[in-house]
Amino acid sequence: MCGIIGFTGYIDAKEVLLNGLAELEYRGYDSAGVAVFTDKGVETFKNVGKVAALRNEIPAGVESSCGIGHTRWATHGGVTKTNAHPHTCGKVTLIHNGIIENYHELAAELKNGGRIPQSQTDTEVAAMLLDSLYTGDAYEAISEAVKRLTGAYAFCIMFEDQKDVIYCIRKGSPLVACMAEEGAVIASDMVALLKYSKEYFVLPEFNIAKLTKNSIMVTDLYGNTVTPTMLSVNWDMSAAQKNGFKHYMLKEIHEQPESVKLTVRPRIKRENGAVLPDFSEDKVPDELFLNAGKIVITACGTAMHAGLVGRVLIEKMIRVPVSVEIASEFRYADPIVDEKSLVIVVSQSGETADTLAALRLAKEKGAKTLAIVNVKGSSIAREADYCMYTHAGPEIAVASTKAYTAQLAVFYLIACRFALATGKFDKEQATEFMNELEAVPEKIEKILEERGVIKELSKRLTPARDLFFIGRGLDYALSCEGSIKLKEITYIHSEAYAAGELKHGTLSLITGGTPVIALGTQKAVFPKLISNVKEVRARGAMVILVTNGANTDDMEKGICDEHLVIPACKDEFAPFLAAIYLQLIAYYTSSYRGLDVDQPRNLAKSVTVE
Ligand code: G6P
Repeated sequence: MCGIIGFTGYIDAKEVLLNGLAELEYRGYDSAGVAVFTDKGVETFKNVGKVAALRNEIPAGVESSCGIGHTRWATHGGVTKTNAHPHTCGKVTLIHNGIIENYHELAAELKNGGRIPQSQTDTEVAAMLLDSLYTGDAYEAISEAVKRLTGAYAFCIMFEDQKDVIYCIRKGSPLVACMAEEGAVIASDMVALLKYSKEYFVLPEFNIAKLTKNSIMVTDLYGNTVTPTMLSVNWDMSAAQKNGFKHYMLKEIHEQPESVKLTVRPRIKRENGAVLPDFSEDKVPDELFLNAGKIVITACGTAMHAGLVGRVLIEKMIRVPVSVEIASEFRYADPIVDEKSLVIVVSQSGETADTLAALRLAKEKGAKTLAIVNVKGSSIAREADYCMYTHAGPEIAVASTKAYTAQLAVFYLIACRFALATGKFDKEQATEFMNELEAVPEKIEKILEERGVIKELSKRLTPARDLFFIGRGLDYALSCEGSIKLKEITYIHSEAYAAGELKHGTLSLITGGTPVIALGTQKAVFPKLISNVKEVRARGAMVILVTNGANTDDMEKGICDEHLVIPACKDEFAPFLAAIYLQLIAYYTSSYRGLDVDQPRNLAKSVTVE
């Protein structure tokens, strides 16, 4: 939520900031702004809308080699130029990602000193506070401010009388930094640094980073020097570009064969013909599973939907109770977890505020925690007892696709390792399972080759107002993901229903022509699903049925309006493949509706506020 970047160095700061903000735009796109040191002092430029609109706002001839930039997802205060960051008070200009919870009280106190906010934001109050505390020593002012601020924040701060220097501090919200030939860069996400370096570090919480042209100095709040751990990524710039695809989402859909492969491959051990899951590189011991009397999976959005698939799989294969909890509910529900629980947190960004809070709560209650995370070095990855990275690479489209299937891949690996550890699987069964998992990327390729069919079919969905997804078991778990994907980027109202539950209310919403996407990839419940398909068709629904090539050769003709068949696979593996159809349906329907596929209205990719 909100993207921030700071740069000081030897090249045009304006360009560094604008390019970086374009990379960070997925974090929010309500307004954008930059502040730069020029000969005139600190100059600020803002605009509502996207970064492109900000570019037009900056007059030619503005020269600077140091500045800060922000792309906003509005929380406090509407989408206006005044509310756009950076905010200035006296000598202080800053940008912020997060929420200052006590801004009201602080604003009231600061009023006595004559500081009156111009905007409706919590951020401006932080600028006012810092200005009230600043007497020339930035460290002193920041350390004192930290004592007074509650909430979450990542700040990049410039003090008018310290030309070309940026100070940064964070609590909760992310900040990563790198020192490159061009200068020092700090941002919310590694994608904005990639142009300058593949080596970076995560600014530790409550540490202050001071960026000058030649160095980044990190100190704790007592002035002690800190040497943060360096991390590196093996992506290049192209990983964060569209590479000829019209949208990031389409590109990321196409990257799934590779991202599933990259996630599975390092976790496979081959011995004497057996193919076994192996977590030695992740340092995840079997005891973690053997000691788990109960498993709780907690996450938000798509990551939570990956957990729904994980639950069905683990319960079926291991017979250990698994519950899936929405992180924002879990954290306030006084959840029943203890030393015997294994809590699995799932997050693409590794920074989602509710998921992070859920993880911290689980740890507090003594549970063992395992994170499934995509972004290296993120807060969730660092704070969990164990971490298994998905290797999906940078995901830029707000609608998650490749992160989801990579998360599924990790759940499949966990289920298999767990089954081996508990003796539910012998090596032969594990090998068979792993062979199926290794075959997934090739089968995804086959579906992608058929995207023309989906493109055509999606035309039929374009005028829809409501749409329903139905399925049973794993298909229901996948329906939840199909539904969120569709509604978030097409703005068509959609719901996912356990197919058997439909007649307890929702059936009343099915009228002539209402599209229903029925997932029928599971042999055990296929006849039941087909009965539900008949029920909705009898009420005039337009049914798109997705089945498994392994089970549906002799399916009754004319049972649906459109029929999509995933390449034959064992039923457990169907979600990987059916997911691709659902992603493509959402993508093409959104495109036909002429919408902004990558940046749907009101949303942001990384939700670092509650
Ligand atoms: C946002 C994104 C979703 C994502 C969810 C959880 O809502 O738009 O795509 O699934 O946050 O994010 P996380 O980074 O924790 O997976």
